[in-house]
Amino acid sequence: MKRGALRFGVLDIGTAKTVALVLEGVPGWSVKVLGYGQAATRGVERGQVVDMPALIRTVTRAMNRARRMAKVGDGPLPIWSNLAARPVQALTHRGAVGLPNNMVEEEDVLRAEEAARAVPIEHNQAVLHIIRRGFFLDDKPVHWPVGMYGYRLEAEVHIITVPRTDLLNLKQALEDAGLLVEAFVLNPLAVGEAVLSDTEREMGVIVCDIGAGTTDVAVYAGHEVDFATVLPLGGNDLTRDLAQILSLPWQEAERLKVEHGHASPDAVQEDQWLTIHPFGEGEAVRIRARDVAAILEARIRDIFQKVARAVREAGKWGMFPAGLVLTGGTSHLPGLRQMLARELKMPVRIARLHPNLTWPQAMSGPEYATALGVVYFAQAYLEHGQGTARVPAAASGDFWSRVKAFLRGLLP
Ligand SMILES: Nc1ncnc2c1ncn2[C@@H]1O[C@H](COP(=O)(O)OP(=O)(O)OP(=O)(O)O)[C@@H](O)[C@H]1O
Ligand SMILES: [Mg+2]
Repeated sequence: MKRGALRFGVLDIGTAKTVALVLEGVPGWSVKVLGYGQAATRGVERGQVVDMPALIRTVTRAMNRARRMAKVGDGPLPIWSNLAARPVQALTHRGAVGLPNNMVEEEDVLRAEEAARAVPIEHNQAVLHIIRRGFFLDDKPVHWPVGMYGYRLEAEVHIITVPRTDLLNLKQALEDAGLLVEAFVLNPLAVGEAVLSDTEREMGVIVCDIGAGTTDVAVYAGHEVDFATVLPLGGNDLTRDLAQILSLPWQEAERLKVEHGHASPDAVQEDQWLTIHPFGEGEAVRIRARDVAAILEARIRDIFQKVARAVREAGKWGMFPAGLVLTGGTSHLPGLRQMLARELKMPVRIARLHPNLTWPQAMSGPEYATALGVVYFAQAYLEHGQGTARVPAAASGDFWSRVKAFLRGLLP
């Protein structure tokens, strides 16, 4: 290990798969993947823990694979993990301070943000993220107030809270797997961080990760996240519809979807036939590929109606000049992009990962956006420390003291 290097782990616990990474922060601010591993998830449904022992086994399996590849042994590693909590609540709050010198100093920014954070939340909720939204100097909006004249500085923050028990259950599972939890990153925020460009974030964009069990939604405007939610819907619902309507075993419905599925029946050849083996039928049955697509299309419509409703209810359904960006395993479904562009009347793209670090080739698909986003959050923490928008509120002081020691290690 290089002098002053800092090792940490990253997890993306999805409903279908769990991804583990072992990374090293090295002097010069680069972060390097030392090892990675994956395991089929057990014990999670629609993003939520439903069986602790099964989840602990899953996490252990994925983490051990990553550790083995990284050759790090089983010593304690600070872990950054995703979290798919539900329901997500958010509030925007301002805090004001007077400016004794009639000039804004860094100190005043911290004081104003401190005041903005001081807001009562429901007792069963826990603060997960505090996002810097902007400043007002004598009621006038400014991007960055330091160095400007004024009498009164206000800071605006967006506070994201989640059910405390969701946080505690996942933390407990990770601790029981022998891991040391550093911080959690809410799924939609991780995804936004991983795949959106600065221009998209500035202009206004909506990002949706459709995984197996959840659809994670985030709206960005003015660069920062403006709305985020986790909906209990995903690719498993597409599979379940096929299984129920066509009387298929789960595995066969899943295979039918992944190998022959399409999001738009009109785009499927009328004379394309598929062979399936339904329950109760002695032999194989032929079905039109177009009819399979019609079942999938109906569920995708349903998912996006719910996405639109959630965003609209939060008062955030407006202009998304940069359109919709899709990630998650379900975004592999052929025809999905075109179908959604037509239905939603906005530009739609399937995200490609462009990691700013050496990233495993095996994890280049859109279903790895969440894991990459969690790495970015950890990386921002290493680079800038606490007090940046990208640091989860729950990040513990412990790791920060190690980061500071790490920084000191860089000094001559
Ligand atoms: N070619 C494909 N067509 C349609 N669906 C696909 C395809 N490939 C994978 N999927 C679906 O993607 C889903 C898995 O996606 P992903 O790996 O993003 O989920 P996850 O992260 O484990 O779960 P979640 O984030 O929802 O908790 C499964 O439902 C799978 O069927
Ligand atoms: Mg996922």
